[in-house]
Amino acid sequence: MEYKKFADETLEKVKKKMAEVARRNAHKVPYITTDGKYDDRDGDQISWWTNGFWGGLMWQMEKLTGDKFYADLASELEEKQDANLMNYEGLDHDNGFKWLLTSVYHYKKDGNQASRNRSLLAAGNMAGRYNLQGRFIRAWNDWGEDDHRGWAIIDCMMNLPLLYWAYDETKDPRFLHIAVNHANRTRECFVRSDGSVCHIVEFDPFTGERVKSHGGQGYGHGSSWTRGQAWAIYGFALSYIHTGDVSYLNTAKTVANYFIANTPESGLIPCDFRQPEEPGYEDTTAAAIAACGMIEIAKHSVGRDKDVYMNAALKMLHAIDEKSADWNPGTDNITTKGTVAYNYGEKETGILYGDYFFIEALMKLSGIEFFQW
Ligand code: GLY
Repeated sequence: MEYKKFADETLEKVKKKMAEVARRNAHKVPYITTDGKYDDRDGDQISWWTNGFWGGLMWQMEKLTGDKFYADLASELEEKQDANLMNYEGLDHDNGFKWLLTSVYHYKKDGNQASRNRSLLAAGNMAGRYNLQGRFIRAWNDWGEDDHRGWAIIDCMMNLPLLYWAYDETKDPRFLHIAVNHANRTRECFVRSDGSVCHIVEFDPFTGERVKSHGGQGYGHGSSWTRGQAWAIYGFALSYIHTGDVSYLNTAKTVANYFIANTPESGLIPCDFRQPEEPGYEDTTAAAIAACGMIEIAKHSVGRDKDVYMNAALKMLHAIDEKSADWNPGTDNITTKGTVAYNYGEKETGILYGDYFFIEALMKLSGIEFFQW
């Protein structure tokens, strides 16, 4: 198959580059690059939402190479995150991103009991964020001037697999009920009639009623932040995979259809589908996440649908490889055009999880059995 050849060849380039990157950054907790060099989120930033991705990436490399060096680095990162588990204010709905890629995977791989314990503590804390009246999981703790008690965000769809795992592990249906109710409420309150999704929905934390949406990391209110669209595509596909409820697959397809209709001819994904031409930012993270979701949708589709979603994923992955990747082993990032948000944060730079999802998509295409969600 043509796409397997592309994936295998690109994964060879990944292995070559990551051998250098991992050694250079071995004991860091990387997130973002400046001039091709990773930062370090250890210490007072150990609760940062992306910190599990370094562990996830090290497990990917261990799978690709069989080299224990990577497994040791993944375990080191997992242990560092214990400081986050002991910091209540640093725990939030992103417990999924932090512990699915580290302790849950580690436990599933070799039954490590400390990893199981970490994972269940993280899942229990996440479940505790569920608002019974509003049937949503509270996203963030409070910071700055906003009151976040009633805020839920589309990104949380990617964190739900932590609760699906906890249900499988403990057989306690509360974990399943919370995940499913949150997914249903997200579909009701985030997905617009054109298939796009908003980033943030604010509920009244007492009555549970939907109050309004916020533009969040996109261009503005009512816009279409592409990473948010991607979290929805992959997140709803994952809820289908974990529950077998085909209505989630259909929601994933609805958002994917909107995403495909808005994908430029170049295959390069902007930060927001409704951003102005100037300044216009690219976001490789959105492309890589959406590609992962679309490959999963393709796997679970039949007939012409299979090709539509697979071809859309391939278009974005080829575009990254050809135009928005840096294969020089002297720099830390592979994907080059990750954007944090339209109105703030770093633009068009290396973001660790862009690389993680790019590699995950390639592993899926290559037929390697590796699934952390
Ligand atoms: N989950 C935050 C983001 O996607 O930037």
